Amino acid sequence: MMILGIETSCDETAVAVLDIPDLASARPRTGKSPEEIKIRANIVSSQIKLHAEFGGVVPNLAAREHVKNISHVFETALKTAGIANFEKEIDLIAVTHGPGLGPALLVGIAFAKTIAMTHDKPLIGASHLEGHIFSNWLNNDFKEPKFPLLNLVVSGGHTELVLMRDYNDFELIGETMDDAVGEAFDKVARLLGLGYPGGPEISRIAEKGNPKKFPLPRPMLHSKNFNFSYSGLKTAVLYLLRDLKEKGVAIDEQVKADIAASFQEAAVDVLIQKTKQAAREKEVSAIFLSGGVSANTALRTAFKNMAEENGLTYSYPPLAYTGDNAAMIALAGYFAYQKNGSTGWQNVDMKPNLGF
Ligand code: KG4
Ligand code: ZN
Repeated sequence: MMILGIETSCDETAVAVLDIPDLASARPRTGKSPEEIKIRANIVSSQIKLHAEFGGVVPNLAAREHVKNISHVFETALKTAGIANFEKEIDLIAVTHGPGLGPALLVGIAFAKTIAMTHDKPLIGASHLEGHIFSNWLNNDFKEPKFPLLNLVVSGGHTELVLMRDYNDFELIGETMDDAVGEAFDKVARLLGLGYPGGPEISRIAEKGNPKKFPLPRPMLHSKNFNFSYSGLKTAVLYLLRDLKEKGVAIDEQVKADIAASFQEAAVDVLIQKTKQAAREKEVSAIFLSGGVSANTALRTAFKNMAEENGLTYSYPPLAYTGDNAAMIALAGYFAYQKNGSTGWQNVDMKPNLGF
């Protein structure tokens, strides 16, 4: 089965072609992974530079860029995948229908509907968050997981703990009460005068910093649930900077590196402790990490160590698939199609607040 994936929920215009050879024999509902997933094309056109000067994604600007880029990204993906005859070779179109920015989602959906209608192909709306989770399957040596498993999804818009009982069975068990962890990285980066997106910048300078230099709070670490809160941690960094300046401390490169390292350690610590508690309480044997923040080396290392110390199997996506991409959307579409089939292109609508 050849699946075309389209992603425009935020600031990447992405189109991918996935080849899953054995649709008939791979029955996700019975808990079986597809035998083989071939990524024939995975084209991502990033708008990061455009939004950087605003310090964050501007929805209308993102939508306009998607309009400008999508045809070219689509053509490039088909060419890369060696698709000469769309009608004959493509079996299913999957498009992100949420969650995400309304104007941005609309562009991908309108584009997907147009090609689904003209070529008479089934269209399915796929969840961006399920896509992030399924990015763990875009791994050549991926082993079939034992359900239930626990997912920690960490991105610019989400910090969620999701219990996955089967390929199509998700339950949200914890989420952030305010800022997402990626958003906190971005905001702290801005406080330190670093570029956007802040996550990679913080993690880069944190390597030279001392994570024990500035004790920062671990919000909600001892709450009796699996929820998170990151706005207090960001505010703590704001006050720390203010106090240091009042004391006459120069905010030089080393002080910035120490603050970045201390912030990163606090942010990661809460994620790890909550995941550990949830894994124990829900009695899972596998934990999966995903989302843009899963590119963070400190988080990946802490996740792996915690899993090994607790006898859990673990997975995180290949680095190339941690950020937004359409291969993960094609795969989420594949599983959603297994469950529901296509509702017809007429019935795919944007769902900016889609959850689990
Ligand atoms: O999944 P994603 O690409 O887009 C959303 O769906 O939000 O995630 C983007 C987020 C941004 O907040 C970015 O700063 C963060 O992921 N990020 C990182 C790293 N790379 C990207 N955060 C921490 N460390 C990183 N290395
Ligand atoms: Zn994302």
